[in-house]
Amino acid sequence: MTRREMLAIGVGLTGLAVSRSWRRSMVVAAATRTGAPGAGLSLRDAAFANGITFGSAVPKEQLLANPSFATIVGQQCGILTPEVELKWKALRPSPDRYDFAAGEWLLNFAHSHEMMFRGHTLVWEQALPNWFGSVVTAQNANKMMTDHIFTVARRYAGKMHSWDVVNEAVQIEDGRPDGLKNTPWLRMIGPGYIETAFHAAHEADPHATLVYNENWIEPDDAAADKKRKAVLALLTGLKRNNVPVHALGIQSHLFAETNACNASYQRFLQQVSDLGLSIMITELDIRDKNAPAGIATRDRLIAGQYYKYLSFMLLFPAVKTIITWGLSDRYTWITTHDPRPDGIAVRPLPYDAEMNQKPAWQAIQNALQEARRR
Ligand code: G3I
Repeated sequence: MTRREMLAIGVGLTGLAVSRSWRRSMVVAAATRTGAPGAGLSLRDAAFANGITFGSAVPKEQLLANPSFATIVGQQCGILTPEVELKWKALRPSPDRYDFAAGEWLLNFAHSHEMMFRGHTLVWEQALPNWFGSVVTAQNANKMMTDHIFTVARRYAGKMHSWDVVNEAVQIEDGRPDGLKNTPWLRMIGPGYIETAFHAAHEADPHATLVYNENWIEPDDAAADKKRKAVLALLTGLKRNNVPVHALGIQSHLFAETNACNASYQRFLQQVSDLGLSIMITELDIRDKNAPAGIATRDRLIAGQYYKYLSFMLLFPAVKTIITWGLSDRYTWITTHDPRPDGIAVRPLPYDAEMNQKPAWQAIQNALQEARRR
């Protein structure tokens, strides 16, 4: 699908003065790396030519199970996020034991394909081991959290592009004035757990970019507006207190119909940039749950949203990293987490279940190649 076709389906990018500019040396280097000069650029190389890092989150089991999938990931991704292997549940089989085997395997996969590697996530209230509730108490929670951070982040010190230090800590519905989510970490340690986590991560790995990662801050609605305000207040406070937070991770789990290119979100992105923070798109996928059943129509709508959203986000120089949550429809979490009401297979990602490129792939490629980098 050409850019013109994408624009024709109503994703007109008002106010987006996009112009083609990229560093010729990068394009030549990237084209050379992909084979013959002038060869079609992979997503990682099209991104690289614009000073952007493109990658995806995948688990070890899928790379092991499907060599053609592993090949595509190796070709298309310049950075890799373990989908589950660096969460507490995977790392901590028991209170006094760590299991790094799967994390090491993915680190080696990434580095053997000249990819950068990032960690997800040091502090979250989900994906906790079964023993957590019976072992971690208000008396030991702070030590349990910092011991975990020191052990894990030190293990990978110097090898990580970045860490999602704290994930999804804001939930307005929980009713706190500061908007923080009522998690076990908050209840047992207090709101200071966030600052403590970032300081521990920075002490463990001074080289890693430290990220606060959040979801549902993109849409054009009152709920997202309230969440954006709370996240901005949290980040402003962290920066005021000289907490080593370097980037905001915006998960970007969108729907085909999400209006993410809205004025409120645009203001938020500028305010986050003005704090001196980088912005990373950390979990991009686009659900077709409410789209018509026809594959061609769905693929066009999804591609249009990828193009529109990324073209909008790439207007902000603070946006330097784009990571999709999966690369092939065969393995998307959405299949089990949020299936279509009609039961038809979902199609949220750049490759279909048979590892064929989709219009979404071309949409991402077009947005990357047209990005204006200052
Ligand atoms: O590996 C086991 C398997 O051995 C077992 O048979 C099976 C059934 O119990 O579970 C498998 O583990 C599952 C794991 O994914 C690997 O597939 C866990 O139950 C399941 O809870 C886990 O779900 C992941 C979830 O985070 C929780 O860790 C999803 O794949 C992953 O996509 C999702 O990702 C989150 C981000 O971390 C944070 N942002 C939202 C995003 C989507 O929910």
